[in-house]
Amino acid sequence: MTTSKKPTIFSGVQPTGNLHLGNYLGAISQWAVMQEKYQSIFCIVDYHAITVRQDAETFRQQILNTAKVYLAAGIDPKEAIIFQQSDIKEHTELAWILNCASARMSDLENMTQFKDKSTAKGENVSVGLFDYPVLMAADILLYGTDAVPVGDDQKQHVELARDLAKRFNHDFGETFKIPEVVIRKEGARIMGLDNPKQKMSKSASPANYIALTDSAEINHKKIMRAVTDSGSSVTFDKDNKPAIANLLTIYSLLSGNTIKNLEHKYRAGGYGDFKKDLAEVVTDFLADFQQKFNAISDQEVRELLKHNAELVRPKAQATIEKVKKQLGL
Ligand code: TYM
Repeated sequence: MTTSKKPTIFSGVQPTGNLHLGNYLGAISQWAVMQEKYQSIFCIVDYHAITVRQDAETFRQQILNTAKVYLAAGIDPKEAIIFQQSDIKEHTELAWILNCASARMSDLENMTQFKDKSTAKGENVSVGLFDYPVLMAADILLYGTDAVPVGDDQKQHVELARDLAKRFNHDFGETFKIPEVVIRKEGARIMGLDNPKQKMSKSASPANYIALTDSAEINHKKIMRAVTDSGSSVTFDKDNKPAIANLLTIYSLLSGNTIKNLEHKYRAGGYGDFKKDLAEVVTDFLADFQQKFNAISDQEVRELLKHNAELVRPKAQATIEKVKKQLGL
């Protein structure tokens, strides 16, 4: 890592399942916008992904594909550092230290994502799934991060990272920078196409999400079948028309057209024309994205990840050294 004077941003995505428009609009697309102004570090958080069982062969490819998604989304490997979490053992080392020194069972019991995921999984919940937010705090705190751009669902986890950093600093002396969460105004919570009351999620049914790898045909079908609200006016009203508000948000973010303009454009039309045009906007986006994605080879990505691990390692090591010293280790 260069000794840049720019503030640091850090964020990551789990290399599992189908990355979708929610991941892109809520997180990755804003990283691409921020990368010039910040020293940017974007991680492929494979250790988070093994909190649930992965098939090794698929997982290996998913890790490479996630790096390709970052690049196809416009992350510039000359501006930003893309790396693989498990290449830097200091992430798990710091997570263990924070587990002992700062995190409390009650902190983790309060995490809404854990409550949701563990209820869905019943008895088969790994200890790692419970401890997951502490590893995320370690990711962030290792690099002296100033800001963490994420979707709305990760806000509570970043707040925990802040709390753990403050607690550690208070108990053992000034060590960690306190990171800010960055959440975009629109698009921080893209909702499911089949249920606008739940966020778009890769673990839901395919009718719920537009995967970044969906073909034009599948995407078109999904959008035309997306649930709508009663009435027929295309107006942005999150409370009374959550489905249309969600589709308008996607349309606006991908086309660069304001929501106001879109409401005006479709004021006479009803839902049919609106959805048809939206399907086209999404198809164009996906075609361009997939062209870039497909142009990147596995080997290129392997080399980039290997090279970048060496760039971030010194900072991670320096932080761990400092932390160990504070603890008398
Ligand atoms: P993950 O892999 O679940 O999601 C990656 C990013 O996508 C955002 N996101 C969404 N944004 C808008 N609408 C949606 N429907 C939607 N679904 C997902 C997420 O908010 C996230 O920003 N724990 C993290 C990964 C992580 C991390 C970190 C992030 C590990 N360590 C350190 C930041 C900093 C996660 O599971 O994200």
